[in-house]
Amino acid sequence: MSDSSSLSQRSLLGIRGLTCADLDLIHSTAREFKDVLNRPIKKVPSLRDFTVANLFFENSTRTRLSFELAEKRLSADVVNFSAAGSSVKKGETLVDTVNNILAMKVDMVVMRHPHPGAHHFLASKVDVPIVNAGDGTHEHPTQALLDTFSLRQSLGEDLTGRNIAIVGDIQHSRVALSNIWALKLLGANVRVCGPHTLIPKHLSKLGVEVSHDLDDTIRWADALNMLRIQLERQGSEESVRFFPTIREYTMRYGLTLERLGQSSKSLTIMHPGPINRGVEISSEVADSEHSIILEQVENGVAVRMAVLYLLAQKRG
Ligand code: CP
Repeated sequence: MSDSSSLSQRSLLGIRGLTCADLDLIHSTAREFKDVLNRPIKKVPSLRDFTVANLFFENSTRTRLSFELAEKRLSADVVNFSAAGSSVKKGETLVDTVNNILAMKVDMVVMRHPHPGAHHFLASKVDVPIVNAGDGTHEHPTQALLDTFSLRQSLGEDLTGRNIAIVGDIQHSRVALSNIWALKLLGANVRVCGPHTLIPKHLSKLGVEVSHDLDDTIRWADALNMLRIQLERQGSEESVRFFPTIREYTMRYGLTLERLGQSSKSLTIMHPGPINRGVEISSEVADSEHSIILEQVENGVAVRMAVLYLLAQKRG
């Protein structure tokens, strides 16, 4: 159960499972923390005497730094763990690793893991709130929360009936799935656009439109969320397997200023990062007045502060 001042969940395992009231509460709390971050003293004592462990079993730049900054801005104590160089390499299980860290009196776990569902499994085994910082190709809930927060800033608070397109490698993207759940909760029309080989067949069952035509999608959309081609998840980092060549992908799905010119609206352009300049998005677009890519990163700290703060409240 949730009321307007409390989340319905004790962990953030995914956007699936959250309510519209949860999203509104996270976003309104994030707005307050964003004000704090714009003050000369950017810190509040909300999580003093609270310890958060950031466990990263997979690479990250933005999410990891953003969580650590969010925790420090809330005055939490922070411990960081990465699988490289740890006893995971000696065969320790996930539950043993986490239980050993929790034995050191940790109050909350933020985790990125390559296996979809790892967070659900862990949440059933340990007694602290778990925050999903990305699980394989499944979900990346805080990315979707910061993306929708940024969209509300750009397009207006009410996203009902607004047309939002997610473009690119949908098949291998946790950002896509979390964004779809979040945007649908907020009443937006969602379209995914990309090559046939990079859009899972079941996706239309989630109530989204499917398109393989970027130019038509540009004319339809109010905002485009451009995704990276995830070669590392396609089973081959050296050569492409889901389309003939990178050059051909860019010709069909790369966003350029010329292409954007087809829209009668001033489109909002997003990207979760890291961006591949000249592949899915040209430098001119990434650095243009249409782009809110760096605002997304800025908003990420406030949104993650809100998530950590609200989950800590649930813990009592
Ligand atoms: N957007 C995102 O998750 O970036 P990182 O992989 O750098 O954390």
